[in-house]
Amino acid sequence: MRTGISRFHGTVMGPMSPVVHKGLAKLPDSDIEALAVYFADINDAAGRGSEVQPAIQRALVVDRGGRGQQYDPAVRLYTAACASCHYNGGNGPHPLRPDLAIVSAVSLSDPTNLIQVIFYGVGAQEGAPGVVMPGFIHGFSDADVARIAAYLRATHTNLAPWPDLEKKVAAIRAQGRGQE
Ligand code: HEC
Repeated sequence: MRTGISRFHGTVMGPMSPVVHKGLAKLPDSDIEALAVYFADINDAAGRGSEVQPAIQRALVVDRGGRGQQYDPAVRLYTAACASCHYNGGNGPHPLRPDLAIVSAVSLSDPTNLIQVIFYGVGAQEGAPGVVMPGFIHGFSDADVARIAAYLRATHTNLAPWPDLEKKVAAIRAQGRGQE
């Protein structure tokens, strides 16, 4: 709520971005605290504290992309386009290099958020101030985007593949940027 980024969660983007950067960021600490207490209470955060570390460990173990698969075209594409920024070393997830095994875009039941991020990136004003992820809409074909999304789903989660990915990518490209 304060900065729009967090070690263990996705970055604030799209229409939610100004809510944080132009609104919540300017509130006094006491208001942010009150909101945090409220949200923690409605989702029983105190009762679920012990689940946090095991969940992070599981996500990082699932993050097994890239090992021993260097001839796979999806691995090559991911390594060339994404891995230079999305890696994490010994100190665990870093908020400015979101670990893709943890961000929800890869584990949602619908791939739209992930496809949007790959197409349009994250602007300097959206997530962490001054930090940018480039968009790939001009560089990648629909097949490239579908291939990376399918690869991340397979290597960074234990969830079932998304169906009809390439069609979905084409539909999102055709739809353009929408309201943002
Ligand atoms: C130049 C560095 C860079 C490259 C290259 C890059 N990213 Fe990112 N990415 C970032 C940064 C930085 C953020 C977080 C932005 C922020 O916090 O403002 C991000 C955010 C994301 C998120 C959103 C996480 C969330 O908050 O939900 C996803 C998903 C993602 N990237 C996937 C990819 C994929 C897939 C590729 C390759 C096609 C890629 N990125 C290439 C730097 C990069």
